[in-house]
Amino acid sequence: MKSPPKTFHVKSFGCQMNVYDGDRMAETLAEQGMTATDDASAADLVVLNTCHIREKATEKVYSDIGRIRKHALRDHGSDPMIAVAGCVAQAEGAEIVRRAHVDVVVGPQAYHNLPGLVARAARGESALDTDMPVDLKFGHLPARRRVPPSAFLTVQEGCDKFCTYCVVPYTRGAEVSRGWNQVVDEAKALVDAGAKEITLLGQNVNAWEDDGKGLHDLIAALADLPALHRIRYTTSHPNDMTQGLIEAHRDIPKLMPFLHLPVQAGSDRILAAMNRSHTRASYLRLIERVRAVRPDIAVSGDFIVGFPGESEADFADTLSLLDEVRHAQAFSFKYSPRPGTPAATMADQVAPQVMDERLQRLQTTLGRDQAAFNAATVGARCTVLMERNGKLPGQLIGKSPWLQSVHVVGDAAIGDLVDVEIAAAWPNSVTGVIVKDEGANETGQRAKLDVAA
Ligand code: 5AD
Ligand code: SF4
Repeated sequence: MKSPPKTFHVKSFGCQMNVYDGDRMAETLAEQGMTATDDASAADLVVLNTCHIREKATEKVYSDIGRIRKHALRDHGSDPMIAVAGCVAQAEGAEIVRRAHVDVVVGPQAYHNLPGLVARAARGESALDTDMPVDLKFGHLPARRRVPPSAFLTVQEGCDKFCTYCVVPYTRGAEVSRGWNQVVDEAKALVDAGAKEITLLGQNVNAWEDDGKGLHDLIAALADLPALHRIRYTTSHPNDMTQGLIEAHRDIPKLMPFLHLPVQAGSDRILAAMNRSHTRASYLRLIERVRAVRPDIAVSGDFIVGFPGESEADFADTLSLLDEVRHAQAFSFKYSPRPGTPAATMADQVAPQVMDERLQRLQTTLGRDQAAFNAATVGARCTVLMERNGKLPGQLIGKSPWLQSVHVVGDAAIGDLVDVEIAAAWPNSVTGVIVKDEGANETGQRAKLDVAA
């Protein structure tokens, strides 16, 4: 038995959806009268909102639990209540209680029940909920209050694609879209609370649908909110990229010129083994169609090296795909076998040293392309949404329309949309200079970026 917690700390790992979920859990606990603290070792309740996508992410949960307990005991002589939430909770369930003696286990579709589970744990009762109810948790969550200038909004969860390496269809369940009204109401609440930019989130966000309406209809409706300045969405699957969504990048100025569209690999043989249901050629054709309507769009992606059976020739196909696309940024990972997925038991698992070496070559090429993209924006005028303070006095860091981090020194505050000229480019960011005259605006900034060279 532990006394009911008065303070809590939520720590989120993994994707942006977990960041969103973590914020919503914090709001739910605050609604119950608990107080958030930044210091995990001082909190009565620590919520670890976990990620199961790769083995390293999963193992981190167990080492974190040990470390939190040690620090709480050393610094405060206390033994906090520990709740494991998120995808590890969903996948491992009671195994976590057995292995790490945590107090609460709550899956990603059940976190609206967190306060009740915490109360049960305080009474010394078992507190595990990994149900995936069809009626979504969102209806049970409290209203949004304090939000950052750039806010996340989950509109879709789950995945029906079953890529052979991926645990998401098992941990997050089948594809489910939140209803139109619910999403629009939450967007309005975010804007009322100060959000200038909203990023619509979903494991397959471009599969969002409600009553025949698609993501592009939703984006068009949100673009009508006067105080909302920018809209983004992530993550998309190539097969759900509709003509309507492509054209939205031409027709809706508030939709930012950025597209995160994972391709994973450049070899058709590997794409088939991954069950990606698109080919190299169909992906490249898609990128062409998007660039035809929005030439300056920044293309981002995810890549996996060392999928079972990947030969040097297959990997060379991935590198040549990079040469064709020229990504503005990308995430890249070594293949990690996940229990229960088809790829985990495939023959020809690739040796770790080979994966290391391929990842390095891939990242060198991606670094080249990112630097080239950043360099191509030098001289462009654009609007930057200021998000946080930089390290230097008077310095602010914001995001360009192309999602670059822009460092600016000058007269501006967090939450401001500021007209900037990009003055210098670095591997992972650019430097901007505030411009006082008119001439930079979200449409006007369809700069002549020669990024698809
Ligand atoms: N191993 C390595 N990377 C993976 N991803 C998903 N599952 C695995 C895995 N088993 C990557 C994919 C996906 C991103 C979110 O994580 O690139 O797009
Ligand atoms: Fe995983 Fe593939 Fe679904 Fe993405 S599309 S979440 S990689 S199964």
